[in-house]
Amino acid sequence: MHRQFHYSILRLLTPFQRGGVIAGGSRIFNKPQSSIHVMPKNFFARATQEKSVFLDERFLYPEHIPEKLPHREKELDSLAYCFKPILSNRKPLNVFLAGPTGVGKTVCVRYVLRQLEETHDRVKSLYLNCFEYNSRASVLIALANFVGAAVPRRGLATDEVFTNFLQCLEKCSFTPIVVLDEVDQLLLNEENSKLLYDLLRVVEYGGKPIGIVLISNDIALISKLDSRIRSSLAQQAIIFSPYTPQQLKEILSERAELAFAKGSYERDVVNVAAAHAAKLGGDCRVALESLLKAGRLAERGNKAKVSVEHLKEAFEAVDAVSLLKVVKHLVKDELVLLKVIAENSPVNSGKIYELYSKSPGAALKERRLREILAKLEKQGLISGVDVSLGNKGNTREYSVKVQGSHLLNEIEGLLK
Ligand SMILES: Nc1ncnc2c1ncn2[C@@H]1O[C@H](COP(=O)(O)OP(=O)(O)OP(=O)(O)O)[C@@H](O)[C@H]1O
Ligand SMILES: [Mg+2]
Repeated sequence: MHRQFHYSILRLLTPFQRGGVIAGGSRIFNKPQSSIHVMPKNFFARATQEKSVFLDERFLYPEHIPEKLPHREKELDSLAYCFKPILSNRKPLNVFLAGPTGVGKTVCVRYVLRQLEETHDRVKSLYLNCFEYNSRASVLIALANFVGAAVPRRGLATDEVFTNFLQCLEKCSFTPIVVLDEVDQLLLNEENSKLLYDLLRVVEYGGKPIGIVLISNDIALISKLDSRIRSSLAQQAIIFSPYTPQQLKEILSERAELAFAKGSYERDVVNVAAAHAAKLGGDCRVALESLLKAGRLAERGNKAKVSVEHLKEAFEAVDAVSLLKVVKHLVKDELVLLKVIAENSPVNSGKIYELYSKSPGAALKERRLREILAKLEKQGLISGVDVSLGNKGNTREYSVKVQGSHLLNEIEGLLK
């Protein structure tokens, strides 16, 4: 009992106080020291006392919107130009943004819209990522609710939701700007592609101005769109090119300076991160994630400085990030199929079905499986080639686009 009391008091004291009290031989602790348990260290108390290499790591988070966006002045200007008519109660220009991954499309749109909303309280934007809003119905429900329709997530026919949206839009007290990011995900299937025709109707025949922003990785998407859609929903096209190594260096220097404590990273760290990202196609997200991961590795190793070695270790895990963005949004059956292909690449569709059927809970019919394979191929996760089986006809052979253990680790993590 007595000893338990000692124990709980000790727990409340910092290591410094504990030592002091015991050394001073206070009246509470004047028992022989051998009777006192040695306390385990408190890992968390130590963590807060330690000097971190980070000043504020949030500046490296992918969703952070920086104060400045160097080397995107032209693109930001063009975007602002599209929204300016709203300030005089006119229709904004609908805009299509395209470019490879990690080149600042999303952050530029968020940046300009934040400024617009700050200066003009009659504008509100709705940002939808079509990995999550990947059907015509889900987008229309989100739109209807945004303009105040209170539509349930289930139960109404999609056309009814659309009518509700139109009615509420007319009464809406603000000008809505709708951003459909990763819009190609919505166009993978014909039924969902109809959403663009819904938006066309709103833009062409609705009385109320509404702004539409479409974002895609696929520069060629614009030429694949029906000409009516193109001239109404993509009145302006802004193409983002990859950053050069020098541009990446400048962007990263600014973010690293804010994120890391002074003197806590080797001079070359930013240069190497920039060169690496440039090699991977000018992707700024890869560079930022590498820096974040390198900083965490330095911390875990209890080092005062982030070194180029930490960064190189970080590259390993971050390389495949651009494709993994797609993986994160796959559902269970899609992940299981991708795993089968990753483990057996190259593998033909018959074999895929056979291996899939052996996995626990496999319930897909062959037809559905073929649809999923087509989707994974369109998303760029796998590639397929037709091969001849001699007199047994043809089959399609699939391989994963990202080799190595990282893809498999990611899939296994998501399947847990
Ligand atoms: N000019 C810039 N200055 C500072 N940070 C930038 C700049 N351009 C991009 N970034 C940062 O790089 C990361 C990737 O940018 P963003 O998410 O906008 O890319 P994206 O073009 O939308 O890529 P994806 O097509 O993969 O969605 C973000 O963290 C963003 O803040
Ligand atoms: Mg984006």
